[in-house]
Amino acid sequence: MFSRNTLILVALAAVASAQTSITLTNDCTYQVDPAFYPDAIASDGSATGGFPLAAGASAGVTLDPTYSGRIWGRTGCDSDGDCATGQCPGGENCTGPAAAGPTLAQFTLDGYDSLDFFNPSTTDGFNVAITITPGAGCSVGPQSCTADNEGTGCGDTSACPTGTSYTVSFC
Ligand SMILES: *[C@@H]1O[C@H](CO)[C@@H](O)[C@H](O)[C@H]1NC(C)=O
Repeated sequence: MFSRNTLILVALAAVASAQTSITLTNDCTYQVDPAFYPDAIASDGSATGGFPLAAGASAGVTLDPTYSGRIWGRTGCDSDGDCATGQCPGGENCTGPAAAGPTLAQFTLDGYDSLDFFNPSTTDGFNVAITITPGAGCSVGPQSCTADNEGTGCGDTSACPTGTSYTVSFC
């Protein structure tokens, strides 16, 4: 027999596992500060609008099950979160989207039919190359914007089963 507490724990585990994992990888030779609007969830469980990522470094965040928003990279940021490109309101921890157009990685998780929809996009502009690579369980290959409206699938929307993990890489 399951106890009531066991059932509650099982329910909590189901909610936690419904979050989508995003690995951010900085393949640039310079620091890139990933930014999120709306907020992602950092590895310590706190909400995050962005943080610095050193050249060659990776970081993991999760997105809420029905997240619909954008991830972008900021370049040339100082310790106050004042950046040469991709600047957002709120400093390092963004509280809104960038006013001047960076390259975007757009995600709508569980949009319909248990599918996630995503694209790399330069509709707002281009500041750094972005590649979105779906993980296991999705047959879609890497989708990238390597320059304004150039790359493999730049601006094209792809779909993967909800629950897929993604890597978003810069450069
Ligand atoms: C970033 O802002 C969110 C609120 O949007 C807050 O919950 C979080 O603690 C902040 N993180 C840091 C590192 O300041």
